[in-house]
Amino acid sequence: MTNSDRNGELWTRTGYCGELRARDAGRRVVLAGWVQRVRDIGSLVFVDLRDRTGLVQLVVRSDRPELLEQAKKLRGESVIQVRGLVNKREPEATNRELPTGEIEVEIEGLALLNQAETPPFVISDPPQASEELRLKYRYLDLRRPAMQRNVILRHRAALLTRNFLSERGFLEIETPFLTKSTPEGARDYLVPSRIHHGRFYALPQSPQLFKQILMVSGFDRYFQIVRCFRDEDLRADRQPEFTQIDIEMSFIRREELFEMIEELMVEFFALGGYRASRPFLKLSYQEAMNRYGSDKPDLRDEIAIEDLTEIGRTSGSELLGGIIQKGGVLKGLLVKGGGSFSRSRLEKLQEEAKSLGAGGLIWIKKAEGGLKSSLKLEQAKLQAIWQALKAEDPDLGLLVAAEKATAVRVLGEFRKNFILEKIKDGRLDKSRLAFCWVTDFPLFEWSEEEQKIVSMHHPFTSPNPDDLAFLETDPFKVKALAYDLVLNGYEVGGGSIRIHQPEIQAKIFKILGLTPDQTREKFGYFLEALKYGAPPHGGIALGFDRLVMLLCGEESIREVIPFPKTTSALCLMTGSPSSVDPRQLEELGLEIIRKK
Ligand code: AMO
Repeated sequence: MTNSDRNGELWTRTGYCGELRARDAGRRVVLAGWVQRVRDIGSLVFVDLRDRTGLVQLVVRSDRPELLEQAKKLRGESVIQVRGLVNKREPEATNRELPTGEIEVEIEGLALLNQAETPPFVISDPPQASEELRLKYRYLDLRRPAMQRNVILRHRAALLTRNFLSERGFLEIETPFLTKSTPEGARDYLVPSRIHHGRFYALPQSPQLFKQILMVSGFDRYFQIVRCFRDEDLRADRQPEFTQIDIEMSFIRREELFEMIEELMVEFFALGGYRASRPFLKLSYQEAMNRYGSDKPDLRDEIAIEDLTEIGRTSGSELLGGIIQKGGVLKGLLVKGGGSFSRSRLEKLQEEAKSLGAGGLIWIKKAEGGLKSSLKLEQAKLQAIWQALKAEDPDLGLLVAAEKATAVRVLGEFRKNFILEKIKDGRLDKSRLAFCWVTDFPLFEWSEEEQKIVSMHHPFTSPNPDDLAFLETDPFKVKALAYDLVLNGYEVGGGSIRIHQPEIQAKIFKILGLTPDQTREKFGYFLEALKYGAPPHGGIALGFDRLVMLLCGEESIREVIPFPKTTSALCLMTGSPSSVDPRQLEELGLEIIRKK
């Protein structure tokens, strides 16, 4: 430490690097931060100093030889503190790309607080290191301005949400992490009990049952910005632990909840300069599947899947006629400008359609002398299809003849990919927010994996009262009072009006195949709670990480979670999960059986 006035103490910092402006010229300041870059031009040394607010240029002149020598030796990412004078830069030296570009700080005192080793990658945007390396050295990656911005925006979004809900009478109430399994469709993370060998807590997949019980307790309006844990296959928008804005209200009509959540979303996205228009579109699950082939449609593009079954039926084609006669459909999708796709691109699309379960893919486009198609059809029939798709030269029509679920799934997948392509190459506005509510989901679905009937949302979702009669006779016909909030093709929230009558809840468990004993063991406490005056209630949980990802314009939630896991659920920084001391296992009464 060369500065005589320090005596090993820190000087009092006067402010942040990135906040200095021309109006500060003439001020003496004390700054602290990380060395971004040192430029030594002999008689002068420039140091870019970085803190969470940005960069400022420091300068040491030759009339301070001792400081000059000290500055020349500074290494990137070392931590320093400086005293100095803010000077306005000469116009030709102004850096218009930097908010602090009109000034620089002339150093009068410098203290090296901690020397850094050469980091494994340069701290700059866009990142130059692989994601693996970035996650291993996450503390360095988090120093990047883009990551700092994301984490700060995340904080502001959480604060806004808290204030928004508090102002509307919601109480933030904590619920346990060491608890009993609450089914949300994923596997549980289990925590073994040391005191009760052979028994396990489950980390909550969501606070669903606790929030419902809080309604029984009379708290009326609950919220929590809460961590949830799900052991499921991970993707860019899924993490094993993630955060929900969890909400529950008593005596609530669905529309009141929609209105409030829409207001919250408008304010939330205004933080990023976005303007969302209300009211959000409402689509039934059926409509969403039929028109967009997805229950989370990306509505930044209006293109929809068209039903061409009637044209197919009378097309004279044996292939189409056969599929339709067996109950199948013919569906079509317009690809704007797709008429110029190369033959190999068309072949690739056909392969893709097959891998998604279709027997094949038919294309149709304009050619010399009329319309051309991969399936031999009369010109008049091709014309009818072309018109039904509202296609014009040089568009492309893509057709799938199959069972309805397959046809819409395949075209829905294509639709999604074409939209992403359009966004990437600038044909669609990236800053557009297309929200919609998807409603009227079926209450149940068939799980191929488990080979049994399962709840489409969770078993606490109320059936539509109009469909109660089918509950036992034809459960797949029953609609749920459930809704999802969808934004730009992402499911950003899900909720429902709940069952508040114990008899209906017990009936649902029975339909799901739980025996009375299993029901009592798993949910006895909850069924009992419903018996002591449960008010009608409903709620929603918003995926906070997904919302922040979209707010920050990122494509993966890992970019907005300070310490995320990889897609194989590893924390590369700490090395978790890791093996534990045999003594710990013994205390827990556990033994590891290695798979052969
Ligand atoms: P659901 O399971 O739909 O509903 O979850 C609510 C929202 O949480 C987000 N989400 C995730 N985000 C990141 N990683 C994950 N693994 C992950 N899983 C879900 C999604 C989703 O829409 N208890 C109900 C809510 C309710 O009924 O009130 C529930 O948890 O954005």
